[in-house]
Formats: sequence, structure tokens, C-alpha cells
Amino acid sequence: MKERPIVEAMQRFYENQNSSFHVPGHKHGALSELPRAFKDVMRFDYTELSGLDDYHHPEEVIAEAQDLLAKTYGAQHSYFLVNGSTVGNLAMVYATCGEGDQVLVQRNAHKSVFHALELVGAQPVFLTPQWDEATYTPSHVSLSTVAAAIDYYPDAKAIILTHPTYYGVTNSEMIETIQLAHEHGIPVLVDEAHGAHFIGKGKFPMSAIEMGADVVVQSAHKTLPALTMGSFLHINSNRVSNDRVNRYLRMLQSSSPSYLLLASLDDARHYIGTYAHEDHQQFIKSRNQFVDGLKSIPSLEVIEVDDPLKLILRVSHLTGFSLQKQLEHQGIYVELADPEQVLMILPLLKARHHFPFAEIRRKIKSAVEKCSKQQRDKVEIDYSHDIEALSTLAVSYKKLQTAENEWISFTKTTGRICTGMVIPYPPGIPLFVRGEKITTNKLKMLADYLASGATIQGEHDLSRKQLLVLKEEKE
Ligand SMILES: Cc1ncc(COP(=O)(O)O)c(C=O)c1O
Repeated sequence: MKERPIVEAMQRFYENQNSSFHVPGHKHGALSELPRAFKDVMRFDYTELSGLDDYHHPEEVIAEAQDLLAKTYGAQHSYFLVNGSTVGNLAMVYATCGEGDQVLVQRNAHKSVFHALELVGAQPVFLTPQWDEATYTPSHVSLSTVAAAIDYYPDAKAIILTHPTYYGVTNSEMIETIQLAHEHGIPVLVDEAHGAHFIGKGKFPMSAIEMGADVVVQSAHKTLPALTMGSFLHINSNRVSNDRVNRYLRMLQSSSPSYLLLASLDDARHYIGTYAHEDHQQFIKSRNQFVDGLKSIPSLEVIEVDDPLKLILRVSHLTGFSLQKQLEHQGIYVELADPEQVLMILPLLKARHHFPFAEIRRKIKSAVEKCSKQQRDKVEIDYSHDIEALSTLAVSYKKLQTAENEWISFTKTTGRICTGMVIPYPPGIPLFVRGEKITTNKLKMLADYLASGATIQGEHDLSRKQLLVLKEEKE
């Protein structure tokens, strides 16, 4: 068996020095006017040529590489995705839910999950997550909330969970939650975008695949050494049809997959598959030294979470956005900032790697010293708003398709039906979902987000302080 079938096939192709009379038009980079380093990479930007298999009908190297992927993660079937976890989430929802079907969904899901539910015209039942006091973020849905949801909605076609959260918080009740859903014949679909490294027998938190979930989607590009967009989808179930998932992946993904991406996925699978005990020990040792070093910096609060790759930094009087700016002045770019803190994703080092942790600690210290001289800009956000454990859309996706909308000042939107998503980004979890009723609490949170300098994606006109809402019908 080859170690990295796609990578090896591409290397053989390269060594043959073939002439290109096929797409892509840059002809192995020769026509490109990009800088040299880019062109060097383009030499490997192949397409589905003899010896390189067919992405949507794999029988050779892609099939071999996907088999290795399934073996590595202990799944029945696994797929390389070339359009991120986004397309994995779309495909798993399409494969399990239809128009009008009830679907249980964690309310702090990624926007791609909401988009999927809207595209299929499902009826989502939102499950409110617990609040995690350590990270000031919503985390997982409690087992009791899931039990109540199944009691009320026993005909639900699926339950969609996110595990771990963007901030690296895991769910200690995940196994029981999956078992409960299965006892009621409900498949469990897990967005594990941030957990592609969650394998390796005790080295990292357990993956939802090992815990018995039916479909699991992982962004390999987030924590493994894969190119951006490169992701995995795993199926480990007789409750979800592999053929259906495969059919939707064929429909939703490009017919011209990037081989650079596929090679990086093949390599990422090999990387995690060969992540040895010594690699893990060495990584944890250097990580812990780094964390201890950070903890000794005055005014810096360091928060550790379940996932050892994630680290949260806080300076008490400043927003995460201000801390982020100071870090960037020192050349340190973090994953995200929010009104409270910044989130770092540490590199999944192997024993052979040397990473300049000491120098990075020095730079972080300089940034924090600059922060100490800055005036307070942190806004007190009240996260304690009461939300019911279960909620539904006030207006169905079907009705929203044809409904008329209007722009109104966001201060006047309480009680109105939101028709444009409002998504603080990152982390990409919608504050307002299309079809939900707008509440005063949420508006207050939006105002706090804006006051603290957050970037808000979605369909809104917040520069003119306007939101898109359903036009009220005249009596
Ligand atoms: C929880 C979660 N799910 C899905 C996605 C989408 O992943 P991708 O960027 O691989 O499409 C993200 C992206 O940030 C995410 O945080």
C-alpha cells in the first residue's frame, strides 16, 4: 500500500515532464505572471488526467487515499472535500432531511448549517446551548435539553451538533447524547470542523466518530497541515445512506477539484495517521512551557480549554479586538478576536519540529505592555439573557422564499421577523437567523458587538443601522 497515493501519483506525473494541452490554462504555471514562488506551486496544479483518478468516480489513487482516510479515522466511508466543511454540512443535511422535516439543531451552529436547512426547506428546532463561563461563549447542548427536544419532536429526522466549539470546548455528555438519539432512531450529524486532530488514542479529546456519531465533518485545513478549504467527511452508520451523501457531494462540489488541495488532504491524513506518542509528548511539553511562560506576563490572563491546540488570551480592560491590534503590531496574527479575548490556534507539532515559542512569548509580552498603557475600551456585555431551551422559526423557510422584506432602523425591530442573517465573524455563529423573531436582548447584544468593533457578516445595512425584516401584512 502506498503511503500517500495522490501525492505519489502527482510526483510521478511531474517527473514525466508531460506537455499540457489540457486545462488549467496556465499550462503548469508557464503562462502565469504571478511571482516565481506561486508559479512553482502551479506546476503541480493538475486536473483529472490519466493516472490521477477521477474525484467524483474514484477507482485508483483517490479511492486508495480515501480508504486510508476511513481506516485512519475508523469510519465506514470517508471523503476528501474541496469546498470546506461548508459543503460537508450541506451534503449531510441534504442526505438526511427534506422539505418540512423537523430537525433538531444546536442554536450556535455555523452559518453553513443554517444555510443547509434553509436550502432543503426543513423545519429547524433550535436547541439552546449551555453558557461556558470560562470562555464567555455558548458551548454544547445539555443531555437534558436533547432529551426534552426528542420528547417534543420524536419525528425529528436528524440532530445536528457542533463539537468541539470554535474555542475548543468539548461536550462531556456527547456519548450519552448520541446514544439517546439512536435509541429514538434519530441520526446524529456532527460538525467537527475544529476537531480533525481528534484521533490518536487518548492524545487529544475523543472524536465524535469514535463516540458513535453517524456523519462527522472536519475542516482538515483548520488544525492539520492541509490547504485552506481541504476537509473530510466521515460516515459511520447504517442510519445514513452513504449513496445519498455521495450523490449530494457530487452535486455540490466542483467538477474540477484542485489537485493541490487533494494532495494536501492526502498528506494531512498521513500526518495525523503517523502522529506518534513521542510527537504528542514533545508537543505537550513545549506547549505547557509556552503556556506557563505566558501566564507569568503581568496583566495577561491565559485560559486553557479542552483542546490543547486552542489558547485564549485576555487583558482585563481591553476588548479582544484591541489586544489583537497590539499583537499584530508585533507580527503575531491570532485566529480571532471577540469583545472579550483573542483565540490562538497552536501548531500541531511533531517531535522533529522546532517552533520559536520563546521569541513569540517575548513579542506577546511587548504587546501586553503596550495594552497596559491603553485606556479601557471593554464593553460590559450581558450574556445572561433568558432564552427558552427549545425554539422554532416564527416564519417557515418556505414562506420566507416569497415574502416581502423591508429595511428598518434596528432600534425599531423588536418583535419583528428577521429576514437577513446577522453573523458576528469570526466565529460565524448567527446572532439573528432568518425567520426568527428579534428580541430586545439580542438587539442589545448586537449594539454591544458593534460598540466593541466586531465585524458583522450577513444581509444587513449596519452602516446605516438598518436590519432587513419581514414586511408586516396590512389588516
Ligand atoms: C464550527 C464550524 N463549522 C463549519 C465551518 C466551515 O468550515 P470551512 O471553512 O472548512 O468551510 C466553520 C468555519 O469556521 C466552523 O467554525
